[in-house]
Amino acid sequence: MIGKLNHVAIVVPDLEAGTAVYRDTLGAKVSAPQDVPEHGVTTVFVELPNTKIELLHPLGSGSPIAKFLENNPSGGIHHVCYEVEDIEVAASRMEAQGARALGGIKIGAHNKPVLFLHPKDFCGTLVELEQA
Ligand code: CO
Repeated sequence: MIGKLNHVAIVVPDLEAGTAVYRDTLGAKVSAPQDVPEHGVTTVFVELPNTKIELLHPLGSGSPIAKFLENNPSGGIHHVCYEVEDIEVAASRMEAQGARALGGIKIGAHNKPVLFLHPKDFCGTLVELEQA
């Protein structure tokens, strides 16, 4: 069912320093920082030939990634995002398979329908499904 790896999201304690690592050390193409207030994050996209890395930094109080950074002060991989053709079909399949969704289908940071899945059901990794 899942298709391409859309992105890997990495939470960073310092967005400028994280951007510099990808741009200067690794020589990747990076975007300007983008505030996404409705999701409580500032993001920088790292464009790779076959996928993206999304650097995430908390924005405002009550950011959903603030706790992650508290538990992982030097940052870390937050989630992986796989593309699906149809988010409703994917959600039904997850339910039928007994995999827990975190909340329901939402509009994600890229204005596309997404569904987050419980890490305990996916090898300890938070998974985001995105309708491509
Ligand atoms: Co994501």
